[in-house]
Amino acid sequence: LRLFAGSANLPLAQEISRYLGIELGPMVRKNFADGEVYVQVQESIRGCDVYLIQPTCRPVNDHLTELLIMIDACRRASARQITAVMPYYGYARADRKTAGRESITAKLVANLIVQSGADRVIAMDLHSAQIQGYFDIPCDHVYGSPVLFDYLNEKKLPDLVVVSPDVGGVARARAFAKKLNDAPLAIIDKRRQSHNVAEVMNVIGDVSGKTAVLVDDMIDTAGTIYEAAKLLRKEGARQVYACATHAIFSPPAIERLSSGVFEEVIVTNSTPVRQENYFAQLRVLSVADLLGETI
Ligand code: R5P
Repeated sequence: LRLFAGSANLPLAQEISRYLGIELGPMVRKNFADGEVYVQVQESIRGCDVYLIQPTCRPVNDHLTELLIMIDACRRASARQITAVMPYYGYARADRKTAGRESITAKLVANLIVQSGADRVIAMDLHSAQIQGYFDIPCDHVYGSPVLFDYLNEKKLPDLVVVSPDVGGVARARAFAKKLNDAPLAIIDKRRQSHNVAEVMNVIGDVSGKTAVLVDDMIDTAGTIYEAAKLLRKEGARQVYACATHAIFSPPAIERLSSGVFEEVIVTNSTPVRQENYFAQLRVLSVADLLGETI
C-alpha cells in the first residue's frame, strides 16, 4: 500500500500517514510558467495499491486538475489499484439541474476521475448522497460528523436544539440530533436569491431559551449559517453553535464567523484550516483517524 499527497491538504495527509504508520511517497508537483501542472511519482509503484489524498477544496479547479494528473501518472506507472481519497469533493453542490441549460458538474467531475484511471474513491460528507452513484467505480462515502457530535456530546450543553439552516439539510440535521441524545429539531426556511447570497425567512420549531446547534455540510461564504444564527438569536436562542464538516471559508466567511454571533464554530480538517490562524471561537477537529481507518 502506498500513500501520496497532493498539495491541497498536506497536514491532513501527514496525520493520516502517521495514523497508518506508512510514509507519504515521494511525488514531484510543479507548475510550468503558463500554469500547467506537472506530476511525477518518484518511486516504482508497479503492482501497488496506491492512495492519493487530495480534497478538491479552494482553489477547486487547481486541486481537481492536480488530482486528475496524479491519477493519470499512477495509472501510467502500472499501479494495481488507485484510490482517490477526497475528504472534500468540490462541485458537489452542482448535483442536479436547477434551471435549464446548466451543467451537472458533480457528475462531470466524477466522470473525469473515473476516466483518469481511478479504481475507487473515498469521499467524505458529500453534499448529497446520490453523488456516490455518479461514479461507475466503488465510492465509499464516509461521514465526518461523528467527530463533531462526539465533541458536542462531551460538552454536555443544556437545552439543546439542532437546527437545519435550510430545508435541504433536514435529513442531515435529524441524524445529527439523534446522536445528541435525540435533541429536538428546528428548521430554517431559507430563500436564496442568487448563488452565495442567502436570505433567511423564518424558524420552524422552538428555539427560545435554548442552545441552538446549526448543522450544515459546509461553510463557504458563511452567508447561510450567519443569517441563520442571527435569526436564531432574534428568536431567543441563548447560544448558537455552528457545526460543519467542510470549512471552505471563502471571503467574507471569517468576518461573519468571528462577528460574535457564534459561541463556537466547529469544523473538521477535511480542508486545510488551522485553528490558530483564524478566530478564537473556531474549533478544528481531525478526521485523520477516520480516513486512516477507511483506507
Ligand atoms: C447549501 O445547500 C449547502 O449545504 C450550504 O448551506 C451552503 O453551500 C453554504 O454556503 P455559504 O456558506 O456560502 O452560505
